[in-house]
Amino acid sequence: MRVMVTGGAGYVGSHAAKQLTNSGHDVLIVDNLAEGHRPAVGKLPFVSASLLDREKIAAAMKEHKIEAVMHFAAFAYVGVSVTDPAIYYQNNIVGSLSLLDAMRTAGIDRIVFSSSCATYGIPERVPITEDHPQHPISPYGYTKLVIEHALADYSHAYGLGYAALRYFNASGAAADGTIGEDHDPETHLIPLVLQVALGQRESVDIFGTDYPTPDGTCIRDYIHVDDLATAHVAALEKLKPGMQLKLNLGTGHGASVQEVVDLCREITGHPIPVRKVGRRPGDPPALVADASAANRELGWQAKYSMREVVESAWGWHSKHPRGYGE
Ligand code: UFG
Repeated sequence: MRVMVTGGAGYVGSHAAKQLTNSGHDVLIVDNLAEGHRPAVGKLPFVSASLLDREKIAAAMKEHKIEAVMHFAAFAYVGVSVTDPAIYYQNNIVGSLSLLDAMRTAGIDRIVFSSSCATYGIPERVPITEDHPQHPISPYGYTKLVIEHALADYSHAYGLGYAALRYFNASGAAADGTIGEDHDPETHLIPLVLQVALGQRESVDIFGTDYPTPDGTCIRDYIHVDDLATAHVAALEKLKPGMQLKLNLGTGHGASVQEVVDLCREITGHPIPVRKVGRRPGDPPALVADASAANRELGWQAKYSMREVVESAWGWHSKHPRGYGE
């Protein structure tokens, strides 16, 4: 298929674009490079555009005879979404609606959407199944939920086929070491811990040691970015007009912050000093996916272990200590 990948210069989008290409699809990357990195696009066809520029997006869809869209372009800092919600509503909601309009203009009826476990808010139970109530606690999570609703309504009304893929904690890097995670500022646990191992930070803060978990630190489900990419390709290949897929993407296994730090110590051979500090507002104690629906619907399951996640991340960060170095 000819697939437009919005946000294809970003972390998850660039890994999905690579796998789409490897699976024989033709990819057109669209990114405004607000958060993405031009080198992550490599030699793939690229259009620099904001999703808000509906005419330009629709023209690119027509010119490249696009048949389906993978939509990653979004802001994804939970904390910033609280202090500056306007840019999240504008970029993540208005931008996505503009993209959906451009798709209707161009007659494209399939989309794979990058959603989040942040749509569930504080979970009532773990592992989390897709029918768990969605009550996000951050503007970021809310913007993702709004677009899930828009997709459902567009599907009923216009026959759009969509997959809303709710990621748990995307992590790791491509095995060939060419692309990886590079956020500015970095807020995610694994890259921060590895920056300590690289001597770029003195220590890492552990946010909260009094959670109701076995070691008192938060539990998350770290899913390898290449496993996410595989699920996107499988969802795209399954989609038909009018089809609705809402799927969790996780491993089904949780790791605590302390366990992540210990594993990073073992893999890097660095002592990685920590500071035990207070809880970060808005962090649920445990987020773990029940990913059995993705297995049933797509025949997909996570292939990479937590150790492989950290090893691949270490491979990327140690070879690219300044990320893409732009
Ligand atoms: N953490 C620390 N110290 C740090 C950074 C993180 O202890 O310096 C802890 C957090 O408290 C959390 C865990 O490490 O318990 C993971 O934190 P991340 O910031 O790496 O990831 P989050 O779980 O907060 O966020 C992820 C995605 C978001 C998504 C969110 C849903 O990155 O996009 O899950 O809750 F919205």
